[in-house]
Order: sequence, then C-alpha cells, then structure tokens
Amino acid sequence: MKVLVSGGTGLLGQGFLRVLQGAGEYEARCLIRPTSCTERLKGFELCCGDAEDACSMEKALRGMDAFVHIAGIGYAPQVLEAMHRAGVERLVAVSSTSAYSRFEFRSAPLLTNEALLLDNGLRWTVVRPSMIYGTELDHNMHKLLRFLDRFPIFPLFGDGENLWQPVYYEDLAQGMYTALTRPGTEGEIYDLPGERPLPFVELVHTAAGTLNKKVRIVHLPAEPVRRGLLAAERLRVPLPVKSEQVLRLREDKAYLYEKAREELGYAPRAFSEGIALEVDRLRELGMVR
Ligand SMILES: NC(=O)c1ccc[n+]([C@@H]2O[C@H](COP(=O)([O-])OP(=O)(O)OC[C@H]3O[C@@H](n4cnc5c(N)ncnc54)[C@H](OP(=O)(O)O)[C@@H]3O)[C@@H](O)[C@H]2O)c1
Repeated sequence: MKVLVSGGTGLLGQGFLRVLQGAGEYEARCLIRPTSCTERLKGFELCCGDAEDACSMEKALRGMDAFVHIAGIGYAPQVLEAMHRAGVERLVAVSSTSAYSRFEFRSAPLLTNEALLLDNGLRWTVVRPSMIYGTELDHNMHKLLRFLDRFPIFPLFGDGENLWQPVYYEDLAQGMYTALTRPGTEGEIYDLPGERPLPFVELVHTAAGTLNKKVRIVHLPAEPVRRGLLAAERLRVPLPVKSEQVLRLREDKAYLYEKAREELGYAPRAFSEGIALEVDRLRELGMVR
C-alpha cells in the first residue's frame, strides 16, 4: 500500500511518518515544496508540489492508495480536486478542535472546509487535534519552555484558569495511523486531544517544574492588552501577539474523546509525561538547560 503524506516536515508529519515506517504496512511518498527541509525526510520518496496547487498534488497522488493530508484543512478544495483527478479515494485529513470554538473567526473556516469533504465520493476520515506539542518543531510549548528556562517571571494574561488540553505529537500520530488503517473509520470525525484538560497556570507550573525552575506568575489584565493590540493592528504595527490570541485565551479548550478511545483505542499520555519528553529533547539540542 502506498500513501501520499503532506506536511511530513512538520511536527505532526514527523511523528506520523515514524509511526508509518514502524508499522511497515504503507510506503510513503512525501509532498514537499522547494523550500521544505528535506533533511527531515531522509529515506522517503519525495515529490515536489504545493497544496495550493491541485495539479501538482494530482501528479503526486498518481499510483497512491491513500492521501494523508496534514498540511492544512484550508486546502480542502484543492485536495478534493486533485484526488478526483488522480482517482484516489481514501483520505485522512487533519483539522482542529478549534472547530468547536465559539469564536467564528476560528471555527467557521474549519467547519466549512471539513464540510467540503462530505458527500464528495471520497472515503474520508477527519481528525481534530487540540494544540500539538512535543519537539522543537512545535509552535507553542517549546517557546514556553525556553522562556521559563531563561526568566523567573512569567507574564500571563487574565487569571490563567482557562483550560487547555495539549496533545503529545506521537500520541496523535498513533491515533491518526489507526484512523487510516482500521476498518469502520471512513466517514467519521475523531477528536484527538491530550489526556485531560488543565488550567493554563497548572500547565505553566508543570512545565517549569519539569525544568527544575521556580516561576512567579504575574497576571496582566487581558482586556486592556487586547484593546491595545487591536489598536496597534488597526495601525498595522507588527506585533508578536495577535488580539485574537488574547481573546481566545479566555475560552476553555477542553474536549472529550470517548469515540476515539472506543473506536481507535486512543489513549494519550498525561501532559506531565509528554512535557518531560519535550524537555529531554530540548536539552539534547542545547535549547534549554
Ligand atoms: N500545531 C498545533 O497546535 C495544531 C493544532 C490543531 C491542528 N493543527 C493542524 O495540524 C496539522 C499539522 O500541524 P503541525 O503543527 O505539525 O504543522 P507544522 O509543524 O507547522 O508543519 C506544517 C507542514 O505543512 C506543510 N505545508 C504548509 N503549507 C503547505 C503547502 N501549501 N503545500 C505543501 N505543504 C505545506 C509544511 O511544509 P514546509 O516544510 O514546506 O513548510 C510542513 O510540513 C496542520 O494542518 C495544523 O493546522 C495543528
């Protein structure tokens, strides 16, 4: 069996390719852009293309039995077009638990793109991860860890009681692999979050404790900060944090995963275990002490 994988150079893609390689059931071809870091894809067949371009994906899909599309649900229209033209029917696509967000700017594009996959003649499965962490490639936790490693004070918007449920990338990759291979998963959407939700302050203390650091949290009022950011955005001042991000900090990100547990045997590890693995990895790379 042969599978085309997009997003193979990213955090989840790296985890997924390792699971695929370990299982030995599928041969992977990776869709890469001219700028992709192919060092991370040694030993895999590569095919140049771009998820923005249906023609290039169609070529990459020729001769494949399935497509695992990790590079973004936003490319659903191009993915559909490419799969129809290449005659490939099996698709596992990665969306996000942000599809549950009460903020439409976050949920609506995801739901719209997921909906495109339905009733389109494909044998699709959608997986929705929560925030993913686990290596220097993640967009969130490795920055938090590096900050906590360097500074004894952590500024936090609001009271920090909002819930987060980050998922360790290898647990997610295993869940995705089962979603690809287990019969009965077609036409299903699976939420794949971390083991349990925890308040953001607890998450920060757990991360600091894993680094053997003590951290003093300084609470900043979220609303004035958000308004300030919004004003700066209107003036087109480039800033590292977006007002939308501050807004979303006030939303609980807590998810159930009974369906994935029952149908995929999904059993993500505790955050304390996953973050310890990430700290080990960052120490190996000399990114934290
Ligand atoms: N990270 C999270 O916390 C999170 C949470 C929920 C859902 N998700 C979703 O999960 C998926 C994987 O996330 P991740 O954190 O592993 O992503 P990532 O580390 O940012 O990697 C993104 C991958 O997608 C590829 N890519 C991006 N645009 C592409 C395009 N136009 N054509 C071809 N390849 C393209 C990148 O290739 P290059 O090497 O060429 O850049 C890279 O391999 C994404 O769909 C993301 O939206 C992520």
